[in-house]
Amino acid sequence: MRHLLSTADLSRDDAVRILDVAEEMAEVNTREVRKLPALRGRTIVNLFFEDSTRTRISFEAAAKRLSADVINFAAKGSSVSKGESLKDTVQTLGAMGIDGIVIRHGASGAPRVLAEADWIDVPVVNAGDGTHEHPTQALLDAFTMRRRLHGADRRGQGLDGVRVLIVGDVLHSRVARSNAWLLRTLGAHVTFAAPPTLLPAVDRPFGAAVHHDLDAALAEDPDVVMTLRIQQERMNDAFFPNPREYTRHFGLTAARFARLPERTLVMHPGPMNRGLEIAGVAADDARSTVVEQVANGVSVRMAVLYLALTGDQQKETVA
Ligand code: CP
Repeated sequence: MRHLLSTADLSRDDAVRILDVAEEMAEVNTREVRKLPALRGRTIVNLFFEDSTRTRISFEAAAKRLSADVINFAAKGSSVSKGESLKDTVQTLGAMGIDGIVIRHGASGAPRVLAEADWIDVPVVNAGDGTHEHPTQALLDAFTMRRRLHGADRRGQGLDGVRVLIVGDVLHSRVARSNAWLLRTLGAHVTFAAPPTLLPAVDRPFGAAVHHDLDAALAEDPDVVMTLRIQQERMNDAFFPNPREYTRHFGLTAARFARLPERTLVMHPGPMNRGLEIAGVAADDARSTVVEQVANGVSVRMAVLYLALTGDQQKETVA
């Protein structure tokens, strides 16, 4: 794996390999000294043009646990505010000697432009681009599902037959798109539950089935209910038809949560709008994987950086 730009680029074998290497990294993360020498002497730039808490910090933790040096670049406070282009920004950083770029950008497709341009020749990892993709979020979500649902026999496995219901603002969600593609590649069944105003106007968006009635979708007994953040910052107008109505029709409210079976997983990529798309009681329950997803994100990002930066030099095991 040279770049990680989209989950649509991953074969089932690629995806299972990343999840299996992430299992090795998770084992390292349980040790007293959570460190491997795998990327010693390499420098990784976290190039963030959009805000982030968990993705940026977990990429930083992942790189440091692999012994890489990390440069954190935030567009705010940089010469981007003086009009410097992506090309000139990257070439400036490249002149200082870097071995990999993790990029979050508001423009859909920016990571692919960077990977395919001749501005710099290093692996590029997409940390979220506009409303397009967030591949490491989907990988950590799949990793979390596989751990919870397959137990000790998970290595080498996909998510065959697992029923995943993704609820809410699909239209603006890079998480929904990356998850739909990856989960289907791994054998899961994906359904979206959302109002028409928060869905792409096509049949079966990203290959997923669609419900406009959350209660009917929950009655199909999904194994996983993933609620999405309402992305008001990406909307020009108020959304369907107002927050209170949204919660009533599409929120994982305390009443809906109380009706879920004990085995159903509740997921959210974060950051959460508590009380809007998810009730606090659902977010904080033992069935919720919200905090676990964040912890797993470090292991998954260690695996992605390791595979992208070591290329052909990969060993069978990393621990
Ligand atoms: N899930 C996610 O991408 O969160 P951040 O925006 O905090 O990185």
